[in-house]
Amino acid sequence: MTTVKTIGNCRIEARVVDITTLRVDAIVNAANTSLLGGGGVDGAIHRAAGPELLRECETLNGCPTGDAKITAGYKLPARHVIHTVGPIWNGGGRDEAFPLASCYRRSLEVAREAGVTSIAFPAISCGVYRFPPDEAAKIALATVVDALSAYPTLEQVIFACFDDAMLARYQRELDAL
Ligand code: AR6
Repeated sequence: MTTVKTIGNCRIEARVVDITTLRVDAIVNAANTSLLGGGGVDGAIHRAAGPELLRECETLNGCPTGDAKITAGYKLPARHVIHTVGPIWNGGGRDEAFPLASCYRRSLEVAREAGVTSIAFPAISCGVYRFPPDEAAKIALATVVDALSAYPTLEQVIFACFDDAMLARYQRELDAL
């Protein structure tokens, strides 16, 4: 099932899908500060893109939490991968919401500079990094919607959910817009 909302020029949707299969201008990777691969969606993206992705990542000198860097997509159907680094959840006492919002904001800035018109996000920080997923979905939607006015060429945003429970969270936030 897919939930869709259109804001201005941009179609925002949430669906259960493996992000590595999406034919969009850019998919976002929930990476770590080394940018040298890992488990979860990061591992899946590197496996699907092939070893050239790691070669390019090795030239980037890592990435701070909350920032984003772009590479080619290699064997992926997506033209680019935007690697961002979410915060590790630490109980909320370290203002983890700010770096999470920054991941979405910076990913969109990098995407705009690269001429991206369609982009897909995973639920950044919601796996190994243990960010509470209800709050993360709120932050994701609010930050993306907020950025749209500065990014009028963006036509499509897909929130790629790993399962129905995650999709339900994004549906709730989309319905509330
Ligand atoms: N497509 C869409 N979503 C996925 C996929 C996929 N193929 N695979 C997993 N997810 P995580 P994090 C979901 O752990 O919490 C890595 O080792 C998953 O169910 O991938 O930001 C990095 O190298 C969850 O909802 O990322 C870092 O060390 C979401 O993607 C660390 O994990 C994010 O889960 C980053 O942790």
